[in-house]
Amino acid sequence: MADIDLDQLETELKANIEGASDLAALDVVRVSALGKKGSISELLKTLGGMDADTRKVQGPLINGLRDRIGQHIQIVRDKLEASALNARLEKERIDVSLPVAPAAVSEGRIHPISQAMDELAAIFANLGFVIADGPDIETDFYNFTALNIPETHPARQMHDTFYFEGEEPLLLRTHTSPVQIRTMVQGEPPFRFIAPGRTYRCDSDQTHTPMFHQIEGLMVDETTNLGHLKWTLEAFLAAFFEVDEIKIRFRPSYFPFTEPSMEVDMQCDRSGGSVLIGSGDDWLEIGGSGMVNRAVLKHAGIDPDKYQGFAFGMGIDRLAMLKYGMPDLRAFFDADLRWLKHYGFVPFDMPELARGLSDG
Ligand code: DAH
Repeated sequence: MADIDLDQLETELKANIEGASDLAALDVVRVSALGKKGSISELLKTLGGMDADTRKVQGPLINGLRDRIGQHIQIVRDKLEASALNARLEKERIDVSLPVAPAAVSEGRIHPISQAMDELAAIFANLGFVIADGPDIETDFYNFTALNIPETHPARQMHDTFYFEGEEPLLLRTHTSPVQIRTMVQGEPPFRFIAPGRTYRCDSDQTHTPMFHQIEGLMVDETTNLGHLKWTLEAFLAAFFEVDEIKIRFRPSYFPFTEPSMEVDMQCDRSGGSVLIGSGDDWLEIGGSGMVNRAVLKHAGIDPDKYQGFAFGMGIDRLAMLKYGMPDLRAFFDADLRWLKHYGFVPFDMPELARGLSDG
């Protein structure tokens, strides 16, 4: 033992510890002192070979050295770790106030139909209507029979309806009205729902596409009447077209699933060359409506002597064309990105999202 100067070793080790420039270098020093073959570890091993008196003196000295060196390493390690972290934070600093580089922004747009659907869902949600849903591929029963559309009705002819081949006559729904039945058979009155969605007819010109969109509305309870229907449509249209008030008029019509049935016209002004909604003394047809036919209630398992209500159906594409001033319906579905960029909506501009709606 006499040949090892503990004080000198301590001074040397401390100098090495202080001199370590990073965590890896510090670890090399640690191993050189406290590792299996480290200088202090070797000293500790010599304690076993000492006589009791020498050990009594040397033991505390060597153990004390080991503890002090261990503590010193820990202090320097903490310092090095802190400065490594600071260096990283400095290097990876992000200035969140910088404008985003244009190339990093995705140029996606909301399709006007999606925008219109979000808007009408939000408006009807405010009127207490939930959203109901049904399949695009329907059975003859839901699309026609349950809606009181007789076998001989022209809508059943091949030229209107896309039929699938097969034994069971499946078809692409020609309107959203089958959702009336599907929703009513699943629950109990009262009902108050809308059903926006895709519909299909074998038809194509400037104002018709084989796939188009409708919104169905239905309200059934014990007292719902025609006045409620008129108020609901007026309130909806005023909100959708963002005007204070809008006049509508009913024209007598015929739909098998309503009795009486009415065509709905909305007040407009065509005098300036384009169509202005909510003023003027011209009229524009926007959908069909009526009081739910007793036969339809019966098909849905509802007692027509106790319950009554109204239904309506409107073309969403038509509403969107009128609101956003888009002249040609076919362009809606051409998937032309230039068109979408022109007429589409930037997501963050959406006025109101459809929140709090059940999916019926
Ligand atoms: N389903 C009809 C159509 O596509 C529109 C319609 C008319 C729906 C009257 C209704 C209604 O709910 O009451 O032409």
